[in-house]
This record gives sequence, C-alpha cells and structure tokens, in this order.
Amino acid sequence: MDSAGNPVKTFAVTTPLYYVNALPHIGSAYTTIAADALARFHRLLGQPVLMITGTDEHGQKIQRTAAARGLEPQAHCDEIVAGFYTLWERLNIAYDRFSRTTAPRHAAIVQEFYQRVWQSGDIYEGRQQGWYCVACEEFKEERELLADKRCPIHTNKSVEWRDEHNYFFKLSNYQEKLSALYAEQPEFIQPVTRRNEVLNFVDSGLQDFSISRINLDWGFPVPTAPEQTLYVWFDALLGYVTALLDDADDPTLENALRQWWPINIHLIGKDILRFHAVYWPAMLMSAGLPLPDRVFGHGFLTKDGQKMGKSLGNTLDPLALVNQYGADAVRFYFLKEIEFGRDGDFSETRFVNVLNADLANDLGNLLNRTLKMASRYCGGKIPKISMDAFTDHHPLAERGANLAGQVQQAYENLAFSEACEAVLSLVRASNKYLDETAPWTLFKQGQQAKTEMVLYAVLESVRLSGYLLAPIVPGLATAIYTQLGFAVDFDQRDIGQQLPFEQHSVWGTLPGDQSLGKASPIFQRIEIPAEVP
Ligand code: MSP
Repeated sequence: MDSAGNPVKTFAVTTPLYYVNALPHIGSAYTTIAADALARFHRLLGQPVLMITGTDEHGQKIQRTAAARGLEPQAHCDEIVAGFYTLWERLNIAYDRFSRTTAPRHAAIVQEFYQRVWQSGDIYEGRQQGWYCVACEEFKEERELLADKRCPIHTNKSVEWRDEHNYFFKLSNYQEKLSALYAEQPEFIQPVTRRNEVLNFVDSGLQDFSISRINLDWGFPVPTAPEQTLYVWFDALLGYVTALLDDADDPTLENALRQWWPINIHLIGKDILRFHAVYWPAMLMSAGLPLPDRVFGHGFLTKDGQKMGKSLGNTLDPLALVNQYGADAVRFYFLKEIEFGRDGDFSETRFVNVLNADLANDLGNLLNRTLKMASRYCGGKIPKISMDAFTDHHPLAERGANLAGQVQQAYENLAFSEACEAVLSLVRASNKYLDETAPWTLFKQGQQAKTEMVLYAVLESVRLSGYLLAPIVPGLATAIYTQLGFAVDFDQRDIGQQLPFEQHSVWGTLPGDQSLGKASPIFQRIEIPAEVP
C-alpha cells in the first residue's frame, strides 16, 4: 500500500529466455537493452520493478550442440550461461532475476502447471507428423518452407521429418477465447502490425500442438508419461513464472504468482510471437491463471542492409561492440536509431556518426562548455535564479516544461527513439540558445545577471535531458548529475526514491548555489577507423 492506502502498482517485464546453443548474439542483446531501459524508466517513476531475463536450456538443439562439443548438456549450458552473465554486466543490464530452465525449482513449477492443464482435460495422446526445425524447436507448415526444405527463419538449415506418438495440447479449444481476448484487450499484442499477424493466424484456425517428444532425454519427463520428454517450449514459457519466486519460497505456483503476476509485458522478437501471443495465453487459460497484460514483438536487425548469420559471415558480436565503444554507446544507438517494433540496420559508419553527433557534440560539448563558463563566471556554482526570470516564452523553459509528459508517453509506448528525439530537441535548442545569447559576451559586458540566467537555463536543460535519458544511457546520466554537483548513481534500484520523477522531470528544479563538480567530457568523440584499402 502507498501512503494514501492504494495498492502499489508493481511492474514486471521479461526478455525471452535465450537458447544456450551459442554465446549471446546481437538479437538477444537488443531485446535485453530494451527491457532494461523500460525497467529503469519504471524505477524512475518510483514503482517496484522486477526485470526478468534468463536462459532456455533444454531440448534437442541444446542437446545436439552439447554432444557436438563432446560435453554433457549441463556442463555445456553452464559454460554458455557465463557468457550471458558477462555480456549483461558489460551492457549495464540491471536485471532482478535470471531464470534458468535447468534450475531445480523450475521442475516443480512445470510439474504443477502440467497437472493443472491435465486436469482441465486439455492434454491427449496422438500422432505427430510433420517438418520440424530444430533451430526454431518448432514444426513448420510445408507451405512455409524454402527450397530444399529449408526453414524460413534459419535459412541455412533443413527441417527434419518427424512421425511419432506424442502428447498434444488442445489449442483448438481456445480459438474463441483467444479471439475474445484480442478483441477485448486490443493492447495485448503490440505493435499493431504484429497484432494483425496474430489475428490472421488465429482466424485461419488453430491446430493442437504436441507438447512431448520421444528420443530426447534433455528435458523434463512428461509427468503423466515419463517415457516422453516435455516439449522445450512448454517448459521454457514457464521459466517466466519460476523467475517470480523469491529465494526463500518453496517452488509452488501459489508462491510464484503471489506478488508479481500477471507480468506487465513480455518483450520478444517477432519470430517468437506465436508462442507468446497464442500458445502461452491458451496454456494459462487452461491452467486457470490470469494472463499477462502485453506482448510486444520487436523487429529484426540487419547489418549493412543484410540479414545476419554465421553462414553469411556478417554477425555482429555484441561483446566486441560493447568492449570497443562502451555500454551507453551501444544502448543509445539501438534504441535511438531504430524505431522499436520495426526492423532496423546496423552499420558501423552510421553508429559512429550518430554517437558523435548526438552524444559527443550536441550533449557532451554543451555540458562541457557551459560548465567551464559557470566555473569562470559564477564561481563554480549553479547560479541562483528566480523562476520569474523565465516567464516570457523562454525557449528552453517552455520546451522543458512539456518534455516530461511527452517522454513518459513515449517510454510507456516503448517508443524509445521518440523519447530520445524529444530530449535531443531540447539539447539542440540549448546549443542554439547558447550561441545566440553568447554569455561570454554578456559577461565581458558586465551583464552578470543575464549571464547567470543563460547558464542556468542551459545547465538545467542538460540536467533534465540526462534525467530523461537515464533509462537508456545510465552511465551518461550519472556523469551529468555528478558534474552538476549531485551525489547520485543512476544504477541504484531506488533511484526513483532518491530522485523522484515528479520533481526531477520538471524543468527549473536544479538547485541554485549548488557547487558544481569537475567538468570533463562525458562522451569521447569516436574517431572513424581508417578504411583499409
Ligand atoms: N528460447 C527461445 C525463447 C523462449 S522464451 C520463453 C528463443 N531464444 S533465442 O535465443 O533464439 O531468442 C532470441 C531472441 O533474439 C528472440 O527474441 C529473437 O527474436 C531475437 N533475435 C534473434 N535474431 C534477431 C535479429 N537478427 N534481430 C533482432 N532480434 C533477433 O527464441
């Protein structure tokens, strides 16, 4: 309960639980950066937040990869998982839970959930025939396949024919209920293009799907038929539920669902939309559990305009990228440059240009030169100005006053690039204002009050920009605040209590007389590597 006696609005967000067939790729980094930015925004709002990520470790794909490496599956998984921990640390991902589907407590959650679905009468034995893509861990319709029976997503891999006795989930029972859900909660699937894809898929008729496999050991035995192994996706989706358990909790559904369920948003890539927007809600309905609020399917990344892939030799290693350019640079590029929800491209030239223009020049230089002037002209302190000085349609005060609402809307819609653009427009206006008012001349002319007003307006605009960009570039935000004389670290989980949104998102709250910190460039300009002839 909050101080007014209302229930506190919690916020839980998930990334997919990533396969551990290989070290994390840029696609996994992309979803995780977005989820982290969203979680950080809700922390700024002062909400209790749970950000969940993790790994999906069972199934044929992992079993085969481990075998090819001559390792036991668990040893293989442990090794790859370490690579995820490292990348998330380097990318400054402040997750609260890391859910591994091989965690012992996950078995208990899966078992209990399966029993509920079984008792609903939604599981039956049948014969499964069809083309299976091991890389997707999914059956494909023949008409979806490319030439030589290759998978449309893993275009260098052929699907395999399967004909086996399996257990099925009666997805067809949920056709109407799902359609009603999409109609009653139009926000359930976002963006709208993804929603339409799902509606078409569901309208074309839902087929039951098999939830068990034979000839596979790496997974959980089916509780009602232990000679079969549970389909990896059935177990993986439940990893979101297991993640909600506190360390001290016994692994029961009741405990897991107590505080954070239903999840507010599942962030995923568009390739796994069906699992999250169709299969998962149907499974939850069958188990009699409430549904998540939203599923957001983002687009795919290409490199230099081409689909990325190992066979094409044009993958982008997120660890190498972050080691070279730092976390804020990588986070900013992907969230600012690509409209979230659409496909987007990475090119190193574009990457360097964007960072230099927005972060090194527009934001970084602005702060640096203004701080230097403030230390020379205002004795190293933030000038103390009465807000009355800014009444007359002041270009920065006016822009600043409307910014927080716009940016909040953008974050809530997952329109990260819109949030960045809105903030950058204040930054650009500040540069223009500084050039036009020329405080260096005002100072020489002895116009101290005017000089101070100009410097205050710019410093305050940079502060507000840093605050509103903090979910995306937390390191830069901390540097900005530190140089403005605050003692604060945007990585702290209680940042929304330390710097409340209602106060810090308002233009004009920078405290006058506060001693400034030491000025130093917050973002080093990147030199474009010379082209090798
Ligand atoms: N294990 C499943 C998810 C289970 S969730 C209960 C899975 N794992 S994955 O490792 O393959 O997922 C990777 C994530 O990265 C997905 O969200 C996918 O959409 C995303 N991407 C994979 N390649 C991508 C790009 N080229 N671009 C952007 N994202 C892409 O699926």
